[in-house]
Amino acid sequence: MTRSGVVSSIGFLLVISICSPSLGQMQRSVEARQMSMKELGRAMKTTTPLVAATTPIDQAAVRSNMAKIVKESTRLQSLFASADAGSTSSTADARIWTNKRDFDRRLVELGSLAKAVGAAPSRDRLTSDFGKLTETCRSCHRIYRKKQSS
Ligand code: HEC
Repeated sequence: MTRSGVVSSIGFLLVISICSPSLGQMQRSVEARQMSMKELGRAMKTTTPLVAATTPIDQAAVRSNMAKIVKESTRLQSLFASADAGSTSSTADARIWTNKRDFDRRLVELGSLAKAVGAAPSRDRLTSDFGKLTETCRSCHRIYRKKQSS
């Protein structure tokens, strides 16, 4: 490659890196919220056998899993920024950004239910609140998460 070729390639790369931060940021924020959702999935998965156990409930483990959900539920409100609507790796439905208030209200509800599960005073309450928590994940996904093709 000639010297001027090298210089123009460098110039080209510079232009790309200057123009692409929004794309990069978009991707990172999609990844961040997907990681956060995965964290919710893990917390729910490890709590399910604890709630179903016939032996005394491991309250400390339930509480620690629920604390993770509470933390993520707050973070998630800012992880769904409006600029991400067009990302191809995301299964987020565009309705999120026309109904952001309803979406955020659901995240707040997710947090309060997780708190309730963590502090449940009896097995019955634990079972029923955990059921409501599961339903909160499902009902939001039904509306705001696109069906996956695979
Ligand atoms: C307020 C709405 C809402 C609630 C509540 C919610 N989710 Fe999600 N979830 C979404 C959306 C939207 C996506 C798609 C995110 C994307 O791909 O950009 C998603 C994606 C996911 C994913 C896939 C992440 C990936 O790697 O692509 C998992 C797992 C998940 N959610 C688990 C849960 C669990 C478990 C709960 C309940 C404890 C929950 N979610 C509650 C809206 C919600």
